[in-house]
Amino acid sequence: MKKLLHIIATPREDESRTLKVTKGFLEVFQAKHPEFVIDELNLVKEALPDLTMKRVDGKYVLLGGKDLFGELKDAWAEIIQHIERFKGSDMFLISTPMWNYTIPYMLKKYIDIILQPRYLFRYTPTGVEGLVNNKKMIVLTSRGGEYLSEAGRKLDFQEPYLRAIFGLCGITDITFVNAQPMDMGKENQETNLQKAIEQAKLLAAKL
Ligand SMILES: Cc1cc2nc3c(=O)[nH]c(=O)nc-3n(C[C@H](O)[C@H](O)[C@H](O)COP(=O)(O)O)c2cc1C
Repeated sequence: MKKLLHIIATPREDESRTLKVTKGFLEVFQAKHPEFVIDELNLVKEALPDLTMKRVDGKYVLLGGKDLFGELKDAWAEIIQHIERFKGSDMFLISTPMWNYTIPYMLKKYIDIILQPRYLFRYTPTGVEGLVNNKKMIVLTSRGGEYLSEAGRKLDFQEPYLRAIFGLCGITDITFVNAQPMDMGKENQETNLQKAIEQAKLLAAKL
C-alpha cells in the first residue's frame, strides 16, 4: 500500500469550502487509486509539540552537523515521529484556507516542526539539498478574496511560500487548486466553489 498524507489546516469542518474541494478531489482519487491509504493529519485536532528552548537547542545541534544525543533526543521524540510520518508518505495533500494572505498558524507550526536539517534537507558546500525527492504534493486552498489579477498576485504569500518551503526539502512537483473569491458575494461564491471542485476532480483523474 502507498500512503497519501492529508494535512488539514481549517477548523471549519463541514462548513469548510476548502474541504468541499478536497471531498471532490478524494472521491476521484480514491476510486482511481485504491492502492493508496489516506493518513489524515488534522492540525486543528492534533496537538503539535511546542518548540521549547530545549527543542530549539536540538535544531542547532543538527545545524552544527551533529546527531541529537541524550535528553535532546528525548525532547525530540514527538518531532521525529512527525518527521517520520511525513517522510514515510508517498504523496501529500494539503487542505488550507488563506489566512492573512498566507497559511493558518497551525500549518506554519507544523512546518516549523518538520522542516529540520539532516532530516528534510541538508546544507552542502554548493547550497541546500532537499532530502524528500520525487514526491507529488497537491495543495487545495480557498480564499475570501481573489488573487488572480496582477495586484492580487502580489498579495498572495500563500502559494509562493508553500512552493518555496517545500521546494527546500525537494518537493517541487506541487499543483495548486485555489477556490476564489469565496467571500465576495453569495452567487459567485457558489460558481467559484463548483469551478474549483471540478478542477480538483480533473486533477485527481490525471494523477
Ligand atoms: C483568520 C482568517 C483570516 C483570513 N484572511 C484572509 C485573507 O488574508 N485573504 C482572503 O482572501 N481571505 C481571508 N480569509 C477568508 C478565508 O480564506 C475564506 O473564507 C476561506 O474560504 C475559508 O476557508 P474554509 O471554509 O475552508 O475554512 C480569512 C479567514 C479567517 C478566518
